[in-house]
Amino acid sequence: MPRPNAVVFPRHERVEDRRRESDQRKLLDEFFDHATLLAVSRLVNRGEFDSIDHPISMGKEGGVFRATKGTEYRAVKIYRISNTTFRRLPAYALEQLKREASVRNFGGLIFAWTRREHTILGRLREAGVRAPLPYAHYRNILVMEYIGTEEGAAPRLKDALVGDPKALYDELVREIGRMVRAAKLVHGDLSPYNVLYFDHRVVLIDVAQAIPIDHPEAPHLLRRDIENFAKFVTRLGHTVTPQEFYSAVGGDEVGPPTGRG
Ligand SMILES: Nc1ncnc2c1ncn2[C@@H]1O[C@H](COP(=O)(O)OP(=O)(O)O)[C@@H](O)[C@H]1O
Ligand SMILES: [Mg+2]
Repeated sequence: MPRPNAVVFPRHERVEDRRRESDQRKLLDEFFDHATLLAVSRLVNRGEFDSIDHPISMGKEGGVFRATKGTEYRAVKIYRISNTTFRRLPAYALEQLKREASVRNFGGLIFAWTRREHTILGRLREAGVRAPLPYAHYRNILVMEYIGTEEGAAPRLKDALVGDPKALYDELVREIGRMVRAAKLVHGDLSPYNVLYFDHRVVLIDVAQAIPIDHPEAPHLLRRDIENFAKFVTRLGHTVTPQEFYSAVGGDEVGPPTGRG
């Protein structure tokens, strides 16, 4: 099937770019299988976006693309439909998903996962957490707010230049704290890879595996993520202990009603 016009990638003419381009094209061909292309056209027909511009990030489980809608950009996350997609998923997240959605096959699981990310982003936004606004989901495709400028997508915190580590710490405490206290969710995979840094502010992304704060795994997951962030912020020059960070985000309210923390 020919690519619909909606999926157009810029062609580079420089010889040294060709190899990389052909590798990328191979990856894209794998990615945009027949069903996914149809799903893209469906979203275009619904007016969710006009075209997909280029990849922002391509991973084993999926890719994130910049898309254009009128004069705006959107981010389109496409989960790859394959049985490797769920290999990295911790058992608790899969169990949670199976409890929530009655699914019989991998496709169904991936669609439920996509819907879950959409729902959680919505809950985060309602709670006032800085996260991309979700616009739509269909099958394995999630359409959300694009975080970045004309020049490019916002860097991950891991790659960002942070001028004021104390301000970054306060930002993280505020956003993770809102996620815990107002949205009542623990992210489950929070790291400088899943936080974007935009305009000196943080934006939490990649939220599909988030779980309610009263989930038995919640304290352990939050602790692990906070320990990493405490090291990260300390390395940048603002010394903070995991314990004070954990308390500051409301960690003491996390866990099943008995046996908190
Ligand atoms: N809304 C967004 N706006 C801009 N870039 C994004 C957005 N969402 C994701 N990205 C980029 O895509 C990368 C992968 O997205 P992520 O949701 O972490 O998926 P995964 O880690 O499962 O591949 C991110 O590290 C970030 O660079
Ligand atoms: Mg990620």
